[in-house]
Amino acid sequence: MRRILCSLAVVLTPILAWAGVDRPPVTFNKDVLPILQRNCQGCHRPGEAAPMPLLTYQDARPWIKAIRDAVLQQRMPPWFADSQHGKFANDRSLSQAEIDTLVAWVDGGAREGDAADLPPPREFVKGWNIGRPDLVFEMPREFHVPDSGTIQYQYVVIPTGFTGDRWVQMAEIRPGNRALVHHVMVYLREPGSKWLHWAKPGEPFEVRSLRDGSRRFDLLVGFVPGSVPQMLKPGQAKLIKAGSDLVFELHYTANGKAGTDRTRMGLIFAKEPPVEQVSTIWAKNRVFVIPAGAPNHRVDAERTLDHDVTLLALLPHMHLRGKSVQYRAVYPTGESQILLDVPRYSVNWQLSYYLKEPLLLPKGTRIECTGYFDNSANNPNNPNSAVAVRYGKQSQDEMMVCLMDVTSRRRDESGASIQKGDGEVLQRPSPEPPD
Ligand code: HEC
Repeated sequence: MRRILCSLAVVLTPILAWAGVDRPPVTFNKDVLPILQRNCQGCHRPGEAAPMPLLTYQDARPWIKAIRDAVLQQRMPPWFADSQHGKFANDRSLSQAEIDTLVAWVDGGAREGDAADLPPPREFVKGWNIGRPDLVFEMPREFHVPDSGTIQYQYVVIPTGFTGDRWVQMAEIRPGNRALVHHVMVYLREPGSKWLHWAKPGEPFEVRSLRDGSRRFDLLVGFVPGSVPQMLKPGQAKLIKAGSDLVFELHYTANGKAGTDRTRMGLIFAKEPPVEQVSTIWAKNRVFVIPAGAPNHRVDAERTLDHDVTLLALLPHMHLRGKSVQYRAVYPTGESQILLDVPRYSVNWQLSYYLKEPLLLPKGTRIECTGYFDNSANNPNNPNSAVAVRYGKQSQDEMMVCLMDVTSRRRDESGASIQKGDGEVLQRPSPEPPD
């Protein structure tokens, strides 16, 4: 018997050493918590999108198997850009070392470790991810969402009351009721605009279409499932002109249980006037038809830039049948470049991809956006594979909208930095709203 044990030890010792058993064991307090603080707690804390908090050992312990699987399969943290194309400032994917640490922790028995190793808790501003807002706008009243049926988009005009121009560096929409709010867009209506002029401030209303010819608006910020707030760098900001109104667009989806919502939007203003004005533009296709049952149907959208812009961020938007999406820039020279490739698109994770290095796109550049849709019964999200699908607003309809945050240099008072006219283009009403 002893002989057997001895030879087992001879065999096992190198294996255990190879497996790192002679290294100090991986513990929650020392090794794991810093990773969770950096990469997970933004969502895994009370009041945020994730179903359970991961703030403490007690929080994480029941989830160890799920954590192991989620990080190994790279489902968590949610990040969908193919790393071969583009570098993104908000890339949340874990490094291999971080994945290895989490897996080794679980496999090694998920030890808690020494209390002396605990890092200080990460500080969050309760209820916000942008930090404490300078100003919060809230729907004046609750909206009652019925338990069933299709709910038309609701609009509410909220005057800003701003007496001077304000520059917004960060903006975050907080749905009052995450279970019922599908998406929210906040548009800006400039003073003097006739757009929706008949609407009574503070009163929700419905419209067939936002395209009424007299529109003059820009998108300030949106909330869609899995989205990230607008977080611009110092020196970049969106302009809210004095006297502008906010137009909230709210899309509710009934889920069997009636409820109420009162959505808010928080703003953080630029500390000084920015040099670059940020606007959101898009390439969009509204005329496609995805045949019933089609498993891999291609839809293209494109937009040619009529002046130089600097690209900051990309946000692809498709609905339940969206499968993959790719943005390309085709330069006036004929050269082209893949800006973003999302091989597995998920309607639940409509992320903004903030470029690590802003990219200059000269006038004449064509932005091409290609999406593939799965309208077959194999798509678990597909509500009905027996029908052809077209562009439309409701979740059972489809969309192919490729949004982009861009800057153009702000005209300084002397007009020196940019030729007259150039800066104007982004101020002009966009051809149509994204939704
Ligand atoms: C951007 C927000 C966000 C971040 C960051 C995030 N999660 Fe999640 N997580 C969610 C949401 C929302 C769900 C529930 C929906 C789902 O599973 O997709 C979830 C579900 C989970 C689940 C349970 C379901 C599953 O997929 O197994 C685990 C485990 C998990 N997350 C672990 C992590 C870990 C570990 C990290 C960090 C390394 C992390 N998450 C980072 C939002 C996030």
